[in-house]
Amino acid sequence: MKKPDYHILVCNSFRVAGDAQGACNKKGASSLLQYLQEEAIDRGLDVAVTTTACLNVCTKGPVIVVHPNNYWYGEIDTEEKIDTILDALINNQAVKEFLITD
Ligand code: FES
Repeated sequence: MKKPDYHILVCNSFRVAGDAQGACNKKGASSLLQYLQEEAIDRGLDVAVTTTACLNVCTKGPVIVVHPNNYWYGEIDTEEKIDTILDALINNQAVKEFLITD
């Protein structure tokens, strides 16, 4: 099995009851999923994109985590921010201004 180079987790706020009602979902995380996937492919990045349950940093939502780098990004609410993150990932770099640091 070929494993992807990167795994991008997008918080979609799922709760135990199964409803996506939390902060990241309300701030538009789900609407950015398709864009994220398509732009990663366009850049030739080998990426798996998946949604997650709440990552417990709701005030920073929408939250995206890039593994294996362990980059935790907050307030990723525009396509431009996703572009910036993916452009940096081509060089295996973080976008420091979007990282959750506290
Ligand atoms: S709902 Fe996304 S971190 Fe909690």
